[in-house]
Amino acid sequence: MGPLSNNFLKLRMQTEIISTDDENQKSAVKAAVEILSKGDVVALPTETVYGLAANVFDAAAVAKIYEAKERPSFDPLIVHIGKREDLAKVAIVPEELAEVVEKITKAYWPGPLTLVLPKHPDVPDLVTSGLQTVAVRCSSNKIFSAVVRELGKPLAAPSANRFGRISPTSAAAVMKELEGRIPLIIDGGACSEGVESTIIHITAAEKRPVITILRPGPITKEVLRNFGKVEKIKSSSNAGSPQAPGMLASHYAPRTPLILLEKDQEFRPEAGKRYGLLSYTGEAGSGLVSRYDWAQVEALSPGSGKLPEAALRLFFLLRKLDEANLDCIVAEPISEVGLGVAVMDRLRRAAAQK
Ligand code: TXA
Ligand code: MG
Repeated sequence: MGPLSNNFLKLRMQTEIISTDDENQKSAVKAAVEILSKGDVVALPTETVYGLAANVFDAAAVAKIYEAKERPSFDPLIVHIGKREDLAKVAIVPEELAEVVEKITKAYWPGPLTLVLPKHPDVPDLVTSGLQTVAVRCSSNKIFSAVVRELGKPLAAPSANRFGRISPTSAAAVMKELEGRIPLIIDGGACSEGVESTIIHITAAEKRPVITILRPGPITKEVLRNFGKVEKIKSSSNAGSPQAPGMLASHYAPRTPLILLEKDQEFRPEAGKRYGLLSYTGEAGSGLVSRYDWAQVEALSPGSGKLPEAALRLFFLLRKLDEANLDCIVAEPISEVGLGVAVMDRLRRAAAQK
């Protein structure tokens, strides 16, 4: 047998899904904790997207995350703590940032905000891809936080998709991405935010701290302005910078080619191709809906055009359009305010050529 088939066999295993209705929530948490303490990985719900978790201090377990996701080892993982006070277990907060870190984590933790800080020496290099910084957050999902608390150790957990693919916002989507590669998925229902956490880096300055948004997400630049001077979001063209080595231009990609129409850009269809439209409101009078004979139309925020709804449905609809046998997905632009920044960031990366 060649090395390829060996590798294939090694990856095959039975993937179990455990649901979490009120009665069996405790046993689901227990099953997850058991597997994590054995040094294996489990897919868990968070408020943003599903994560693939391992005990952060167990480098062999963390290696299984990279293996199951086929993630290159230069792309560092996010570490999840159970409560704010545990930050000191994984990061060292520089004195000059203590005040702003306290304010910002009090305001948004638990929640969809990730802070990049100097790493604690106990965090294995594999977690941070050799960087001297670590990305930390505290999830508000009650199943996720019950698992972290019962395990008594922080969890390294990137999104539970294969590398470069669409992030999963349901247990069924995790199954499609990682079946046969991981032993267990805890089904906590659909995620409530739908896009990944906002990642920020803070530097001290004379007047106000400077907050750099490394990845836009549910905590928007508008609200972060209350805590410091917010720097312009890095565009994907400098995404290869050491600041955010994993934020590659091409990401969140469906298998079907995707065109994101930037503002005022015209759609020029090729004859004989089946096009699907990812519309903002889906209404006939607005956008591109009635300007072409689409094979399929999906609306991010049906009728009302609300950004939180658009963020919530984004990955779910990308997945749906990807499964619709289209030649191409066309996405309408949405305005880049509030959560619109995160949605457009994900769409640009989905459209980027690999
Ligand atoms: O909402 C989320 O953040 C989800 C859930 C599961 O918590 N997690 C997530 O992880 O999106 P992942 O691995 O898909 O994305 C993590 C991003 C990567 O793009 C990586 O480059 C960045 O975080 N990152 C991790 N450590 C970093 C560091 N030390 N400095 C800069 N960026 C870092
Ligand atoms: Mg990801």
